[in-house]
Amino acid sequence: MTNISFPTTRMRRLRYNPVLRNLVRENFFSPDRLILPLFVRTGVGIRQPIPSMPDQFQLSLDEFVKEVEEAVSLGLGGLILFGIPEKKDAIGSDAMNDNGIIAQAVRAAKSIAKGRLLIISDVCFCEYTEHGHCGVLCENSYGQQDVDNDATLENLVRQVIVQARAGVDMVAPSGMIDGMVGRIRHGLDAEGFNHIPIMSYSVKYASAFYGPFREAAESSPKAGNRRSYQMDPAASAYQALREIQLDINEGADIIMIKPALAYLDIIKLAKEHFNGIPIATYNVSGEYSMIKAAAEKGWLDENAIVWESLTAMSRAGASIILTYWAKNIAKLF
Ligand code: PBG
Repeated sequence: MTNISFPTTRMRRLRYNPVLRNLVRENFFSPDRLILPLFVRTGVGIRQPIPSMPDQFQLSLDEFVKEVEEAVSLGLGGLILFGIPEKKDAIGSDAMNDNGIIAQAVRAAKSIAKGRLLIISDVCFCEYTEHGHCGVLCENSYGQQDVDNDATLENLVRQVIVQARAGVDMVAPSGMIDGMVGRIRHGLDAEGFNHIPIMSYSVKYASAFYGPFREAAESSPKAGNRRSYQMDPAASAYQALREIQLDINEGADIIMIKPALAYLDIIKLAKEHFNGIPIATYNVSGEYSMIKAAAEKGWLDENAIVWESLTAMSRAGASIILTYWAKNIAKLF
């Protein structure tokens, strides 16, 4: 460096007091940019704690509607709903039934939210199948079990139509099934739901950070893993750009990157390559549990760590954040 700028340039000048620091801030998040995930199950009066996710619960419909009311009053942007059905089967029939748990939850939530907060449904089969995989099973050429891509597409369309008929505001396909966005868009349009946006889990890695969620949603694969459909964390970072481009071509309205904290490089890359489409990120269960565990031990200041983590996600380029802390953060505002 030939240009010695000190003492003319002093970076500390703009850090001199809080008003100055606020004036030059660029990375914000606010309650209306946050989406809270909720787990809904059948039954009455159930508020079942999720052991690996302190302060998160499996909720029966009557308890769930209380959360919807609170989310509205806190000014959250939306709720993303995961259903835990009474009965699971090979194809996840409950998700394709107008009286299934998710259809009931969407109807109940909509009647309270009335457009003041978005009711979003996760579109996937792992919570509804007895084997815990994200679609219809088949056998691959080695005689091993795998998810049948094209048969699953048919069912995804059925699932999404049920959610749309129940009144969902936005759908979020999360199965990493090739072609899912295009087929869902087409399916929705054909039934008169062309106003419903698709927030695609475009870039979803096969991540160990989903561990606590699988306990919460009772959706762990009984055998095998999700590596033949979710992305390899060690693949080229640029593979994420191909996934996003495909989803945009197929009609995605919002793209999502998941998990968040260990994949900030991917959010940044997406932001640099795709302007004009909102980017969401999912601050997943494992990220939540790690901080909760450390905070419980008194090792970390939970609110400060959460604020810093979400700021990092927004700085990387995510304008929408799905987080289990949505209510806590809204209360700090
Ligand atoms: C699939 C789905 C998963 C998550 C969101 N949607 C789990 C998975 O792929 O196994 C994980 C979210 C989290 O860990 O918080 N329906």
